[in-house]
Amino acid sequence: MTSLPGFFITFEGIEGGGKTTQIRRVADRLSSMGVDVLVTREPGGDPLAESIRRLLLDPANAPVAPAAELLLYAAARAQHVARVIRPALESGRVVLCDRYSDSTDAYQGGGRGVDPEMLRTLHRLATGDLKPDLTLLFDLDPEEGLARIGTRGGEKDRMEGETLAFHRSVREAFLNAARREPERFRVIDARRNVDAVTDVVWAEVQTALEKWKIGRREACP
Ligand SMILES: Nc1ncnc2c1ncn2[C@@H]1O[C@H](COP(=O)(O)OP(=O)(O)OP(=O)(O)O)[C@@H](O)[C@H]1O
Ligand SMILES: [Mg+2]
Repeated sequence: MTSLPGFFITFEGIEGGGKTTQIRRVADRLSSMGVDVLVTREPGGDPLAESIRRLLLDPANAPVAPAAELLLYAAARAQHVARVIRPALESGRVVLCDRYSDSTDAYQGGGRGVDPEMLRTLHRLATGDLKPDLTLLFDLDPEEGLARIGTRGGEKDRMEGETLAFHRSVREAFLNAARREPERFRVIDARRNVDAVTDVVWAEVQTALEKWKIGRREACP
């Protein structure tokens, strides 16, 4: 839990799981209920971090040395947390973020084999250990996720172009993280149709926000 007044929800999982589709739907529903919501994404969410995003995802920059990749993600996150996420949470907003540090653990840790201790140190540096209050993990077979993206059109980015074995290790790393922190994670079966997934996601978000509101009332009655 963050000790900040706002509420921090992250959307995680492999490519094509439906994170961006669902984050938009949740944001629309919350906004229409009058909730002060900020939608953002990683890497990115701030001008400097978006510039780093373009560098990271550009296939023309492949191959990127694993340490360089890790440090660029960490730099983008440090800027995003300091300039966007933390101030929003300090002012009591609900922050919805499309990917966050669990993606680094899954892709750079699970996918590329970076030492978990090193990742923890970097998270501490980049985020001051800011953890999400709720993480929705969109889980499905990478083959299906990549097939969905194939129908999205446009060129493949550098991560999408990785092997299926790479994406399988990333998926496993996400699921392991969810097993380690069952309080924070909700694993969403992302194989179902968009509306069915939204129903599950919305139920989880509502439950979590209700608890948050009760906690807030108890803190300042
Ligand atoms: N439940 C679903 N069933 C079928 N297609 C879906 C579903 N959810 C999303 N899609 C479609 O799959 C594609 C990928 O969805 P989306 O962009 O939301 O995934 P993502 O998790 O954000 O992927 P990425 O990690 O690449 O950003 C889109 O074309 C979207 O319309
Ligand atoms: Mg997306």
